[in-house]
Amino acid sequence: MTAPANGRRVLVAGATGGIGEGACRALLRAGNEVVAVGRDAARLDALAARLPGPVEAVVADVTAASAAAWFTARAGTFDGVLIAIGDPGHAHGGTVLDIPDEDVRQMIEVNELGGLRALRTLVPLVRPAGAVVTVLGMSAEIPFPQNPLMGSTNAAMRSLLRTLAEQLRPTGTRIYALVLGMVRTRARQAAGIDNPSWLTGDDIGRYTDDLVVGDVPAPAQTLRYLVDPRVGPRLEPPRPTG
Ligand SMILES: NC(=O)c1ccc[n+]([C@@H]2O[C@H](COP(=O)([O-])OP(=O)(O)OC[C@H]3O[C@@H](n4cnc5c(N)ncnc54)[C@H](OP(=O)(O)O)[C@@H]3O)[C@@H](O)[C@H]2O)c1
Repeated sequence: MTAPANGRRVLVAGATGGIGEGACRALLRAGNEVVAVGRDAARLDALAARLPGPVEAVVADVTAASAAAWFTARAGTFDGVLIAIGDPGHAHGGTVLDIPDEDVRQMIEVNELGGLRALRTLVPLVRPAGAVVTVLGMSAEIPFPQNPLMGSTNAAMRSLLRTLAEQLRPTGTRIYALVLGMVRTRARQAAGIDNPSWLTGDDIGRYTDDLVVGDVPAPAQTLRYLVDPRVGPRLEPPRPTG
């Protein structure tokens, strides 16, 4: 079931990813017009077939150097944007000191430069008083031996987003860095990795809808946390355990 159209238009970058899919579904159910962006037409077709309503599917790479001009010419404007892209890379043996240069370059290229280019492409498309939500992992906030480069590129984006939010505050555009806990995604479930206490992509879509509307406590605060679905969105990081 989808709610009646609410008149808002929201773009989801990374729509074919695990978070993107759930977010598209929740945003549609809330009555938004949804523009789903991904790099692969077949994956976008498959996504559209699983969703509860029609989306406008756009095959494009928001992280390409040429993306800003392409989107400005074709995409129109939006009340909200959700950016849920990224590559986890892979785990390394040893310590941070042992990570090969090439792996560092590649992760910075995809996650930091790519994340920045996505912002460069999509922020100018947001209407005055609209919102841009970029998802980050808790690895942005804590030591993360499991995947140090994911942690460091997440932390870099966290910093860029906080600075951008300050720089754009006078324009009325709200920039959010949404730090997430573990998410139940189709890919993880297909690999037998699942936990009913984790978030769903739909949880993230519902909260994105609230952020776009501005129907949240402290709407001017950039950093937000959605870590545990039983706790819901928070303005402070969860207290470390142990
Ligand atoms: N899942 C979690 O538990 C979790 C928790 C916290 C944070 N996050 C972060 O949230 C983001 C999305 O997570 P997810 O679980 O939805 O991941 P996912 O299922 O792997 O989806 C990742 C998306 O990123 C896009 N992407 C990957 N590499 C790209 C590149 N080089 N250039 C442009 N787009 C690229 C893919 O788009 P295409 O379809 O176009 O290939 C895909 O839609 C990631 O940054 C992840 O680190 C995830």
